[in-house]
Amino acid sequence: MKKKIAITKGDGVGPEVVDEGIKILKLITNYTDFEFNLVEAPAGGNVYKQYGDNLPQKSFEIIKSADALLFGAVGLPDLPPGVAESAILKIRQGLDLFVNLRPIKLYEPLKNRCPLKEEFIGEGIDITFIRENTEGLYSNYGSKLENNKAESVMLYTRKGCERIIKYAFEYATKVKHQKITSVDKANLLKPSQLWRKIFHEIGEGYPTLAKEDIYIDAFCQWLIRAPYKFQTVVTGNMFGDIISDEGAFLIGSLGMASSGNIHPGKISMYEPIHGSAPDIAGKNIANPIGTILSIKLMMQESFNLMEIANEIEIAIDQALYEGRTIDIQETNIKTMSTQDMGDLIANKLKESLKK
Ligand code: NAI
Ligand code: MG
Repeated sequence: MKKKIAITKGDGVGPEVVDEGIKILKLITNYTDFEFNLVEAPAGGNVYKQYGDNLPQKSFEIIKSADALLFGAVGLPDLPPGVAESAILKIRQGLDLFVNLRPIKLYEPLKNRCPLKEEFIGEGIDITFIRENTEGLYSNYGSKLENNKAESVMLYTRKGCERIIKYAFEYATKVKHQKITSVDKANLLKPSQLWRKIFHEIGEGYPTLAKEDIYIDAFCQWLIRAPYKFQTVVTGNMFGDIISDEGAFLIGSLGMASSGNIHPGKISMYEPIHGSAPDIAGKNIANPIGTILSIKLMMQESFNLMEIANEIEIAIDQALYEGRTIDIQETNIKTMSTQDMGDLIANKLKESLKK
């Protein structure tokens, strides 16, 4: 199987962590029947400085012609907010990437990096957040900023709700979850009332899955009080933004969290959830695992390569007993640079792919 993968390295630590992701893609090409042809599609702040455009037409053409996109992060401290970052929205909207998939999994070796006490971690944390990625308050629909008044419109459509909720039910079924949780604010917001109605309409088609509704404010406390209760969690754009950052902290470091911006069956974009981290850029200390887990997601969601995805995860889990970047460092475990951590994981993966 031959696939073309667009690579946007981006700004700050973006190129450092993406280079470690590229190592993994090359390994898979070298040691399996799958061949990934990597093509760079520059975007972000540095590109803006050079060409006056954060997503040059040529880059977007490359992205549109690819089977998947690996994205670092964009944003530079010497540019006004949004100047580099709007490239992400252009890609999400341009490709109609309506699913934001964010797994939150606490790996065994990182258990004591979790800020929760053992009793709250319970049986462990392994949640998949599925966030609607195109509608709601973030869509820019009807937003106005005046001198003494500003407004944003929370628009949910039936089409928008149906496609994300349907995706979430299919996902939960595929990964054999027993329960799906919907997060909304239906006690106050009309869009949430539509959402909840559609959640239960679609849910009727999945009689064996347990369904629950939780209000966003209550969910925020349940997520730290009993995270082990949740499996698949589906929610709207803004609520998903907030709870997935809360969740990311539970797994030890922002540098550990991965995400997919997905349109099933079409080109999708995979990225670590962290930003360009200007405070640590250029030091070779950023954690590359969020990026490598994004490749795992790419393998499973875009290419249905479940076994390879699984091997990537095992390699990471094992590597964490031997080496760590500084954000998750621990006495008795070697502190490693970005590149050394990437090599450690790549070597573990190589051993299992060779078999
Ligand atoms: P950030 O995620 O870049 O950094 C927050 C904190 O986490 C920093 O202390 C940073 O050093 C640390 N951190 C982030 N990634 C890490 C990693 N891989 N390993 C170890 N530590 C890591 O968020 P911040 O500072 O709010 O944003 C910096 C820039 O990135 C801004 O321009 C922002 O707009 C942009 N950004 C871009 C995103 C994207 O391209 N998808 C997402 C989030 C922010
Ligand atoms: Mg966010």
